[in-house]
Amino acid sequence: MAGPGQKVLFILGGGPRIGHAVAKKFLSQGYKVAIGRRNTDKTDVDGALPVHVDVTKPETIEAAFQEVESKLGVPNAVVYNAAALTFPPDKDPFAVDPAAFSRDLEINVGGAYAALHHATRLARRHNNPPLVYIATGNVTPFQAHPLAVTLGPGKSALAHLISVGTIAYDAKEFRLYFASQVTDEGGPVPYPQVSGEAHGEAYWKLMNEEGHDWDVRFSVASDGSPRFA
Ligand SMILES: NC(=O)c1ccc[n+]([C@@H]2O[C@H](COP(=O)([O-])OP(=O)(O)OC[C@H]3O[C@@H](n4cnc5c(N)ncnc54)[C@H](OP(=O)(O)O)[C@@H]3O)[C@@H](O)[C@H]2O)c1
Repeated sequence: MAGPGQKVLFILGGGPRIGHAVAKKFLSQGYKVAIGRRNTDKTDVDGALPVHVDVTKPETIEAAFQEVESKLGVPNAVVYNAAALTFPPDKDPFAVDPAAFSRDLEINVGGAYAALHHATRLARRHNNPPLVYIATGNVTPFQAHPLAVTLGPGKSALAHLISVGTIAYDAKEFRLYFASQVTDEGGPVPYPQVSGEAHGEAYWKLMNEEGHDWDVRFSVASDGSPRFA
């Protein structure tokens, strides 16, 4: 269990890059951290609790929240980081198998909704405000790309959910962000240039600073720190 005043972060879809970097940042600041993913044997962040979750299976998301609550406490922060992309054959977006499209959509937004549901119910049941929910985003909701045909629709729906929550709830109770690393020009970031450490710093600021819009875009400065747009 978390000690008195000790806060809890739960990351869904936490792997070696963004997930682990965010976990390390919050652990270094005194948080208890749970990392949810399918392959918990690969969760190798010292001090973090590995939790089995497959975001395509809503019952595992509910069970994962119960496990985090019982072992660490009610989460104050939730990061939804899982995503999936199927590249279209021959760069033909509608050549993607419909079953692959559905599976990717479930990972990109279906699981995120289940996490919003359980995180907000749990916070309300325990009268534990504020809850901060950060969805790892990208620019696909704002700049369509044919190669992102299975990713963009899910991220767009996820951005919509975050904006809905921002309208519906008082920020003193729930703060929600769709946080996207962008290039200096505001465009998509090539995968090798995605910085886990900058995400960790950016998410820590979102946790602790009020007044950010739900649509958060940041580039990475030459010293590696996030620069908010
Ligand atoms: N800003 C940009 O332009 C940009 C660019 C690239 C990526 N991104 C975003 O960054 C995020 C990914 O970051 P990353 O690559 O650094 O990730 P990461 O934290 O290194 O790993 C993500 C983890 O998600 C887990 N995962 C995948 N499917 C899952 C499922 N069905 N259930 C539970 N967990 C699942 C995988 O672990 P298991 O295999 O163990 O489940 C994977 O290791 C995504 O949201 C992506 O859209 C943004």
